[in-house]
Amino acid sequence: DLYNFRLIRPDTKVYGIIGKPVGHSKSPLLFNAAFKSVGLNAVYMHFLVDDVEKFFNTYSSVDFASGCSCTIPHKEVALKCMDEIDPIARKIGAINNIVRRPDGTLMAYNTDYIGAISAIEDGLRELNGAVPAGTSPLKGKLFVVLGAGGAGKSLAYGAAQKGARVVVANRTYERAKELADKVGGQAMTLAEAEHFHPEDGMVLANTTSVGMKPNYDATPLPKHVLKHYCLAFDAIYTPKDTRLLREAKESGAVIVYGTEMLIRQGFEQYKNFTGLPAPEELFRQLMEKHA
Ligand code: ATR
Repeated sequence: DLYNFRLIRPDTKVYGIIGKPVGHSKSPLLFNAAFKSVGLNAVYMHFLVDDVEKFFNTYSSVDFASGCSCTIPHKEVALKCMDEIDPIARKIGAINNIVRRPDGTLMAYNTDYIGAISAIEDGLRELNGAVPAGTSPLKGKLFVVLGAGGAGKSLAYGAAQKGARVVVANRTYERAKELADKVGGQAMTLAEAEHFHPEDGMVLANTTSVGMKPNYDATPLPKHVLKHYCLAFDAIYTPKDTRLLREAKESGAVIVYGTEMLIRQGFEQYKNFTGLPAPEELFRQLMEKHA
């Protein structure tokens, strides 16, 4: 009864996740349980989509479609089909959350960067205590992003928007340079980052795939430099406890798991879809149960 089919009526709002592959996504499970918990007349489905432009040409004219999430490989191409795009999502060049507004137009967001940055900000608050309202704890922080792919862009733009001083370190220097220039930051190679510590209390965000299952023993940055970081985030969530996070913790840093980005980007999507706050505890329980 994943989709609550017995409850579907002509006025039921229809949401879904578009991707290819998409069958493995746990989003329908989370969103349907969330809709049910507050009695919303809505359903969230898997949409296996091949041609994303064709999909949106049809989608816009279907009057039941209310919004969708967007995953691999459509996050970039789908941009072309939107009527309005959140300015940071446009800069990142990727969207993952699309809302069809009452007038039929499509508004797109990138909730990945919001999820990651809010988790990191909460980690810093835990460490430093409250900062004045309206001020990000990232303001003025030296923020080192490892990697310059899609996730690297999300973290770099997100941190820059909060007033952090961004450093992009990547295996391929040219990609680091391109991204660093866009966010007004500094570029270096991963090898250089091993010896980069102009100050203590820096923030680290790994967005490379180094340390991802099955390479449990790999880590993008050696342990000796980790003592200069007050917080470490890893976008990898399989495994949750990467070697980088384990060693950062041993070095005294607050750590923020990739699973936190995953779950918080879902909270944001729920908010954009429904205009309501997400049932966070329920999301967390289901994520844990079905991990
Ligand atoms: P995503 O969209 O998940 O960020 P991506 O665009 O494929 O994925 O980017 C992968 C990132 O991991 C890149 O920064 C890549 O570095 P390069 O730009 O040099 O390719 C980095 N990466 C992947 N494998 C790596 C490895 N073995 N060592 C160091 N960096 C690696």
